[in-house]
Amino acid sequence: MKIGIYQFYPKFGDKEGNLSKIEHALSSQDADIIVLPELALTGYLFISKDDLYHLGESAYDGPSVKRLQKLSHKHNIHIVTGFLEREEENFYNSALLIYPSGKIGIYRKVHLFFEETLFFTPGNLGFPVFDIGGVKIGIMVCFDWIYPESARTLAINGADIIAHPSNLVLPYCQDAMITRSIENKVFTITANRFGTDKRDGKTLSFTGKSQIVSPKGERLLTFSQEEEGVKIIRINPKDARDKHINLYNDLLGDRKVSEYNI
Ligand code: ACM
Repeated sequence: MKIGIYQFYPKFGDKEGNLSKIEHALSSQDADIIVLPELALTGYLFISKDDLYHLGESAYDGPSVKRLQKLSHKHNIHIVTGFLEREEENFYNSALLIYPSGKIGIYRKVHLFFEETLFFTPGNLGFPVFDIGGVKIGIMVCFDWIYPESARTLAINGADIIAHPSNLVLPYCQDAMITRSIENKVFTITANRFGTDKRDGKTLSFTGKSQIVSPKGERLLTFSQEEEGVKIIRINPKDARDKHINLYNDLLGDRKVSEYNI
């Protein structure tokens, strides 16, 4: 299976420009799945609810989703992208899995970071796992990484691969995702952005360094901080299926839930 990342610099509010970049970047690729950053179409630094009304779209019939469905279909690539989802008066920091058939899977970010809490509704769809040709793809978004429960829930729900669209500002996540991969024996695909959003006297800079980590904690693919482009590697998703560490230790099966008392 060929899995990849498009790391780039989404420009705030420029959905047309960002979508064109994505279309151009993915058009010459041969991959089963490519993961894009969090909020890849809109940028990240929202300063008012007006921003959300202006930029949010329905996951089902938004014009940007239609363009991504066409792109996915044309190149036969599953796309996971961060997405500013509007559902009536609620806005979610979502990630969409777009199948070449046009089908859509939705995850809504559960653990909101910093001022996201002012604008977004926390996710209410749990941590879903989707099937693409027999391979199980779980999705979490950016700051979900700091709660080990996110990746653990996805692993218990059967994820072989965790797609992790991100807009990281703290320096810890890339190292932490090595542990998330090892402690769940899953592949993780952290697709980060780089560049700076500057709005209304506020500034946020993003850390790039997107990566794919194996169930053994090996970094199989890396980007540098400001590198733009698509990178793809070949993996065997079955490497995530056997949760035995040795003859006596079954990673998920041996959890002592009755003793955790939480
Ligand atoms: C983040 O959750 N975007 C840091």
